[in-house]
Amino acid sequence: MEQRTLGRTGRTVSVIGLGTWQLGADWGDVSEAEATAVLDASHSAGVTFFDTADVYGDGRSETIIGAWRAALPDADRAGVTVATKMGRRQDQTLENYSAANFRAWNDRSRANLRMDTLDLVQLHCPPTDVYQSDTIFDALDALVDDGSIDAYGVSVETVEQALIAIARPHVASVQIILNAFRLKPLDEVLPVAMDAGVGIIARVPLASGLLSGRYRHDTAFAADDHRTYNRTGGAFDVGETFSGVDFDDGVEAAREFSVLAEAAGLAPATAALAWLAQLPGVSSVIPGARNVAQAEGNAAAGSVPALGDAFTASVRELYDRRFRAAIHARW
Ligand SMILES: NC(=O)c1ccc[n+]([C@@H]2O[C@H](COP(=O)([O-])OP(=O)(O)OC[C@H]3O[C@@H](n4cnc5c(N)ncnc54)[C@H](OP(=O)(O)O)[C@@H]3O)[C@@H](O)[C@H]2O)c1
Repeated sequence: MEQRTLGRTGRTVSVIGLGTWQLGADWGDVSEAEATAVLDASHSAGVTFFDTADVYGDGRSETIIGAWRAALPDADRAGVTVATKMGRRQDQTLENYSAANFRAWNDRSRANLRMDTLDLVQLHCPPTDVYQSDTIFDALDALVDDGSIDAYGVSVETVEQALIAIARPHVASVQIILNAFRLKPLDEVLPVAMDAGVGIIARVPLASGLLSGRYRHDTAFAADDHRTYNRTGGAFDVGETFSGVDFDDGVEAAREFSVLAEAAGLAPATAALAWLAQLPGVSSVIPGARNVAQAEGNAAAGSVPALGDAFTASVRELYDRRFRAAIHARW
């Protein structure tokens, strides 16, 4: 598994990480035993970067990671980086992004994760105004200065937000949706982040599973799965569900992507992740996994030989033809 430096954190992380929203809630049922098995399998396969948030299952994902991490041998624990997020346990108003709330939210995450100092805390998709407030970033600097966090970053919805955040001197990393069905950050964010030395965490890398090529037009998801209840953005930004593409269009495009992957001798999910991991400027790709087989398959994408420029050209052609008009201007 290739390791890379995660931007201004200076930490070394695996190029394939693990997203752990599934280990909290919103993806149907994942038992605690399965969640722990996913963490174990990922780590055994070389994954050293784990992304969570205080709201995933209202702390369930953090708590499971905290217990799992605490049980690791010291040497293994030292090599693991856990990134959490804060800011969505209350309304996304400017006044809620206060120094007092930051401390309270971080104290809860530190307890859940059983860590005195959090490795990386990301603002969890705040409104654009937040990125423009010096007071808010001063409060984040104070958390680093007093040792409650090692570094902070942001998770963003749009390219515009990513660019504003990268210009802030102490933002260590930017987490953004980047996948074969969401290409705008490839041209507009990656080069700027690289110049600034800011890490890029590529989230929703499988377009919520679409890029695995497993779904059909009549595939149904559980009632408590966001792919059922957020399909039109009823609960949070619609871009977080299937990358904001229409499900039926996504199923058709995934069929085409599967042909590209098979021509490269890879399963579609593996090709989707390996391609992202090979893009210059990406620090870590964080697929979510609901079971051990997915976790192991995803980690293996970190050691796939270079897919090359022809593969990228085919992905661009697919995106331009199927999705650019519908989504490019939106995020
Ligand atoms: N606002 C934010 O900051 C934000 C928002 C979204 C996500 N995230 C982070 O990003 C992570 C990744 O995004 P995501 O989980 O939303 O979407 P994703 O990684 O694009 O898709 C995950 C889904 O893909 C399917 N899958 C995974 N591995 C597979 C494999 N090897 N073969 C076939 N199918 C596979 C599974 O679908 P099935 O469930 O159908 O099996 C899984 O639930 C999250 O876990 C979270 O940590 C952050």
